[in-house]
Amino acid sequence: MSNHSAAADAALLAALRTAPKAELHLHLEGTLEPEMAFALAQRHGVALRWPDAQALRAAYAFDDLQGFLELYYAGCDVLRSEDDFFALAWAYFRRAAADGVVRAEVFVDPQSHTARGVDFAVFMPALARAAQRAHDELGLSVDYILCALRHLSEDDALAMLEASRPWAAHYIGLGLDSSERGHPPAKFARLFARARALGLRLVAHAGEEGPAAYVAEALDLLGVERIDHGVRALDDTALLRRLARERVPLTVCPLSNVRLRVYPDMAAHRLPELLRAGVVATVHSDDPAYFGGYVNANYEALFTAQAQLGADDAYRLLRNGLQASFAPAAQIEDWIARLDAHWQACGYTLPGPAH
Ligand code: ADE
Ligand code: ZN
Repeated sequence: MSNHSAAADAALLAALRTAPKAELHLHLEGTLEPEMAFALAQRHGVALRWPDAQALRAAYAFDDLQGFLELYYAGCDVLRSEDDFFALAWAYFRRAAADGVVRAEVFVDPQSHTARGVDFAVFMPALARAAQRAHDELGLSVDYILCALRHLSEDDALAMLEASRPWAAHYIGLGLDSSERGHPPAKFARLFARARALGLRLVAHAGEEGPAAYVAEALDLLGVERIDHGVRALDDTALLRRLARERVPLTVCPLSNVRLRVYPDMAAHRLPELLRAGVVATVHSDDPAYFGGYVNANYEALFTAQAQLGADDAYRLLRNGLQASFAPAAQIEDWIARLDAHWQACGYTLPGPAH
């Protein structure tokens, strides 16, 4: 079978669907499907602005990141009890496993809950229990990354980090998300220094809507190991070269980028340019309940719309995702061996080392 078909054929899409893969950019709160939102709202006697799940889903037409975030934070209001958080996480893990995900590093926004009086003692035990069950029953490796909301103050984020410490065994890292423009990484330098001192893995959203300079700032001032989104780095050739040279992974979310109008449509998505520049790009789903699909839907939409992407690119993206995970090295090697065997069983040859 040729590794260089002009357009993604059914065989390549099937190989992608069933491949072992990593989900490294997924907001737990962004997996809240409208049906679950309505069920939880009813459980707690919370009134939603929409008559039913169908009407809520129809409201998911966004002009930009801010328009989305308003609905996303409103949705969080139905998450109140330990059972709610367990149900949300468990539903996601089942979907992930069905998509071939073997490793999920899941973002959680604690401040979107603590600000409503829902404490770490409510959601962290539930998330830990769901992760354990996903491991035991689905063979899924899960870790959590707590994200600071960048539209709030650094002091608020520092307080969140300190409040999280009793649950330190249940998360591995710190991230940064929410409204990007006007909230540069520099605002959170002390927060990330503290997290580094605690031994946490560090990531940050940068270069989604914000400028390429925020990507460089996240690396230089926050010391992050991966950049979430980062597509705006394409505006700065020197930065792009640096990302490639330093092998900084960019966790790219194609459906999110189209739904939040970073690109007008999937055919215009610039992920192929990242790959051609030698950047360690990966593919993930961001907020799948809001953006039209989970990780396999992202691969499928991208490879269907982009005729220039072929089997070698698919393999590279899958491998990059596994390689960029924060799992132990031996575990990563094992997943890559499984990916290689799968890829060859699907009739493809393994591409040579990345340039
Ligand atoms: N929070 C949830 N999804 C996000 C995104 N795509 N960008 C920034 N913050 C987010
Ligand atoms: Zn995100």
